[in-house]
Amino acid sequence: MEAKSHTVPKNEPASISRKSVDESTAARQRDNARMFDRIAHRYDLLNRLLSLRCDVTWRRRMAECLPAARNLHVLDVATGTADSLVSLAQHCDRIELGVGLDMAERMLRMGQAKLHGAGQSKKLSLVRADGAAMPFEDGSFDAVTIAFGIRNFADMIGGLREFHRVLKPGGRLLVLEFSLPSNSFLRRSYLAYFRYVMPVIGRLLSGDAAAYHYLNRSVENFPYGSEFCELIAAAGFADVHAHPLTLGVATIYQGQKEPASDVSQPNTEADGTD
Ligand SMILES: C[S@@+](CC[C@H](N)C(=O)[O-])C[C@H]1O[C@@H](n2cnc3c(N)ncnc32)[C@H](O)[C@@H]1O
Repeated sequence: MEAKSHTVPKNEPASISRKSVDESTAARQRDNARMFDRIAHRYDLLNRLLSLRCDVTWRRRMAECLPAARNLHVLDVATGTADSLVSLAQHCDRIELGVGLDMAERMLRMGQAKLHGAGQSKKLSLVRADGAAMPFEDGSFDAVTIAFGIRNFADMIGGLREFHRVLKPGGRLLVLEFSLPSNSFLRRSYLAYFRYVMPVIGRLLSGDAAAYHYLNRSVENFPYGSEFCELIAAAGFADVHAHPLTLGVATIYQGQKEPASDVSQPNTEADGTD
């Protein structure tokens, strides 16, 4: 992958779309993007407030899970206001080039301003596109990350397969997502917070109660833990595991794309030597 192939105009998130997904899935995704655009102006503030700033630590932990190699090319899908992308670049100096991709235009505009503010607009860029049909060649990235985004995909397994496609052989997928604590008292308290407290704070600060009711429903319906590990494996990833964070209220999932098989190995069976 050439770094230039991801360069986009500095003040305008690029809008590219190459493949297509079926129309009803695409329509659901567009509705979802419109919802995020409605709350974009308050998104970061609400994230910090509602997660009690835990999201900052969780994003840093995701940066710590990036591959150890240098000159990493990283794609952050469903990047929203680019919080994770900026955090990855700030906490991992091995990133040579980072691309954030999202469908929601206003979220990306907030993100573009953030890249400039953080002095990261040389190595980071944003692209407006559907994460289920991305405008990148096969095997483009060393790592694909997605934070609080996969549960919004109308077709989750389709999205995971697409992430697998754009990863280089041996590349790494990192998914940060909400999960439910295994302790039943904690789980009940957390669900009560999600059901009754979050929508009220969300409505007061963003003016959009529906978006924060949606948040609660999407978190409750998300197949977290081993169930989600199975989905990642079904999309073609190997060595899949989950790292629960903060008593299990969020989890980082990791999967590897298999390395390319080494065709240069001599075939000893065919040699016929004893
Ligand atoms: C909860 S926000 C997360 C934003 C950011 N990753 C973060 O950690 O703050 C979810 C984002 O996913 C984006 N999204 C949902 N489905 C998507 C898709 N199919 N392709 C690209 N972006 C998508 C939404 O537009 C929204 O910006």
